[in-house]
Amino acid sequence: MLEIAPSVLAAHPLYVARDVSKVIEAGASILHLDIMDGHFVPNISFGPAMVKALRVEYPNVLLDVHLMLSQPERYLDDFVAAGADQITIHSEIEGDVPGMLKAIRQAGKGAGISLKPATPAKKIAPYLDLLDLVLIMSVEPGFGGQILMPETLPKLKALRSLGFEGVLSVDGGVNLANSHQVKQAGATRLVMGTAAFTAEDPKAMFEALSAE
Ligand code: DX5
Ligand code: ZN
Repeated sequence: MLEIAPSVLAAHPLYVARDVSKVIEAGASILHLDIMDGHFVPNISFGPAMVKALRVEYPNVLLDVHLMLSQPERYLDDFVAAGADQITIHSEIEGDVPGMLKAIRQAGKGAGISLKPATPAKKIAPYLDLLDLVLIMSVEPGFGGQILMPETLPKLKALRSLGFEGVLSVDGGVNLANSHQVKQAGATRLVMGTAAFTAEDPKAMFEALSAE
């Protein structure tokens, strides 16, 4: 079944509770949380306190945490303690990537890895057994509201060909108009920031996404 994960980055920073409750009431059961350090990406967003606040408010919502951090190993424990359900690190970082993925799983959380647009699927071939989720960036990470790069989508089928059976998530510029293309490419989860948080009727949009 298709999963839809609204990205909280697109909520109004002063009215996160108002905006998040709107997408939850519309049926979302996953929230995607973009954590940016101003180093791995040029932007800075929010941290474990936001994850924890959402965990307390929404105990049953799956919290899908996307770490755009140069040194995620420094913060894994904090995001585990904050109540993340799935933690995704980037494939382009330096450091012990398999060690971090194992640590995430040992903490009882789902482990994910993300690929920037220029990173090929084969880069993560050695880690596929350690992964519950792969997050394909369909924009350069750092900012919401960008245009989806369709040339990133063939990586989804490439990962299936390599034998990956977990969640295939696409992040960046996904909207109702291009969702068919993203699903055809093999996505099982659509991350949506701008499209989910600016929808006048998010329930109707989520239903339309799932119906196709
Ligand atoms: C970009 C983030 C995305 C972003 C998506 O670095 O990883 O999750 O919030 O936002 P939209 O859907 O607006 O492209
Ligand atoms: Zn993201």
